[in-house]
Amino acid sequence: MKYDLKQFTLEEKLRLLTGKDSWRLYDANGKLPEVFLADGPHGVRKVVDGQTLVATAMPNISALTNSWDPSLAYLDGETIGDECIARDVDVLLALGVNIKRTPLCGRNFEYSSEDPFLAGAMAKAYIEGVQSKGVGTSLKHFALNNREYERLAQSSEVDDRTFHEIYLPAFETVLEAKPWTVMCSYNPVNGIWASENEKLLKGVLRDELGYNGLIVSDWNAVHHSGKAAKATLDLRMPSTWDDTAVNELKEGLNEGWLTEEEIDERVCKVLELVEKKVNADKTKKSVKTKEENHAAAVKIAQDSIVLLKNEDDILPLKGGRIAIGGQFAAKPPFGGGGSALVNSDYAPRNLAEELSERLGDGATVEFIRDYSDTVHQARIRHTSSLLSAAYEADTVVLCVGSNAQMDGEDFDRTTIRLSPVHEDIILNTAKYNKNVVVVIYGGGAVDMRAWIGQVKAVVFAGFLGEGGQEAVADVLSGKVNPSGKLSETFPLCLEDTPTGADTGNGFVERYAEGVLVGYRWYDTKGKDVLFPFGHGLSYADFEYSDLAIEKKSETDYEVSFTVKNVSAVDGKEISQVYVRDVMATVERPEKELKGFAKTTLKAGESKRVCIALNARSFAFWSPALEKWYVESGAFEIYVGASSRDIRLCGKIEIDLPKKDQYCKAFKA
Ligand code: GLC
Repeated sequence: MKYDLKQFTLEEKLRLLTGKDSWRLYDANGKLPEVFLADGPHGVRKVVDGQTLVATAMPNISALTNSWDPSLAYLDGETIGDECIARDVDVLLALGVNIKRTPLCGRNFEYSSEDPFLAGAMAKAYIEGVQSKGVGTSLKHFALNNREYERLAQSSEVDDRTFHEIYLPAFETVLEAKPWTVMCSYNPVNGIWASENEKLLKGVLRDELGYNGLIVSDWNAVHHSGKAAKATLDLRMPSTWDDTAVNELKEGLNEGWLTEEEIDERVCKVLELVEKKVNADKTKKSVKTKEENHAAAVKIAQDSIVLLKNEDDILPLKGGRIAIGGQFAAKPPFGGGGSALVNSDYAPRNLAEELSERLGDGATVEFIRDYSDTVHQARIRHTSSLLSAAYEADTVVLCVGSNAQMDGEDFDRTTIRLSPVHEDIILNTAKYNKNVVVVIYGGGAVDMRAWIGQVKAVVFAGFLGEGGQEAVADVLSGKVNPSGKLSETFPLCLEDTPTGADTGNGFVERYAEGVLVGYRWYDTKGKDVLFPFGHGLSYADFEYSDLAIEKKSETDYEVSFTVKNVSAVDGKEISQVYVRDVMATVERPEKELKGFAKTTLKAGESKRVCIALNARSFAFWSPALEKWYVESGAFEIYVGASSRDIRLCGKIEIDLPKKDQYCKAFKA
């Protein structure tokens, strides 16, 4: 189905560049079918007459990324795509791939990782999953929207090398999946609104990265439609509900700095989006039941849970008297707040019931109702009942952390500690019971220094969607062996992070740490951390051996090694491959993730893992050359169970033709 520009008057063409209302494209007086856009990354949020339709709340992408399993990201996208069809949504406004630059960012629950390689791999699979159903997506927020503070006004100031090495690669990788749209961010980038930043939208996204689809604004991110069209933004959302947008386009035409040819280019992108919808409508079909979608949510959640600490192998729970308390034991938060919120009608059982069912007669599981979120008096009653139960129990499980009121769009966290109430509950319980297991819900890193030494085990659940309660019970009971690993560093404290408590001054924030984001910062600066990037325990133990690095070309190598499950329980192991440029003419991070694999291994089983490295695995972005550049010299290849648990190490020497090499200043 092809639409011809000639079918439309100039007035219709100008109107096509702005939404009809909050969620629909303009239909050009009925010449076009309705195209409906809806959030969000963790489930469909379709608002009709002010009501949000019910949908399945899937694990948040921040939790899902802890699975390091692209096949689960694909399943996640496919599941949400299916529900889009059932609710007549043509384009899902997902996925966000902004890098987790600071753990304070309120929307970190909507983002994958501090590492662009991992973020890109997981997001690409998600986009492919959604679009496999014939539903479009919106890769967002382009670009450099890395905190919520003053997100509508504060300019993100970044140098060219940092932009290319940290903030662009995830977008670059996901563009391989051909998302139907890319959404520009609210914030200015190096001083110019993203929505009218021609160097960003045309220069980088279209010309450099080769994107030729539709660019849509974030909602109300356009400040002048004429300037946005000039920068090659195609669609302003939502409607301006008056002639503002059309008049701003006419202003550009009348003053001569915008041409009708440029308008036509933008209109063609809108028509191409409509054509994609019309073509998809011929075959797309919703085939999944609500129960199947819930089961998918549970399955993904199971492998997204990260076992951070497990002293004395207290987990999996062995039985005996178990007390379950904490604010989230009855109903865990499904996800963070804002446009990504999902209206799920799923009512989970409390964790005690779920555990009781799994542990059987060998356990007596007591649920202590929580009052953390109520008035002081009730809380005292709760604490006394929890403490007396703790005194009697063999093990206590406390479910704490944050929820949609604490992790959400449009505001940032002010601390990365748990709330004082939750810290108190943990510390007071630990006074009466030495076997405390803490389950943490939330969108990102937590400073646990105040209490972690008093507890035996810590499980990071993140925001697992509506299947979280079942998944946590599966892991605590041992029905599922935890296999998640952290996709962001958990620092000892906020002060140790690259940006600390800084927020920018409301007008400008300089990305002064450059490429040293996340583990790149902590490892290069030699800082201790609470739990490193890529960390996660299992009920099984894995050994690594027989590293081989096969040279395929001067810059292409195949890294292979053997992983063995040396325990008596089946499990899954996430192996990570990092590269270190031993000596470079620019400052490079101590190591960078350039490959990973998740391997299922039965008790006693060994498997050979192979991971390919190519030129981009060794290259840095050279602002001088304005391209990716591999410098001859030695590189170390690390194979790790985490970024700080390196099991195998190899070394290669790259020797490229002198004509392609440049002056080599040695490190001081
Ligand atoms: C919001 C968000 C964006 C969302 C859009 C529509 O402000 O920034 O992620 O898709 O507006 O709700």
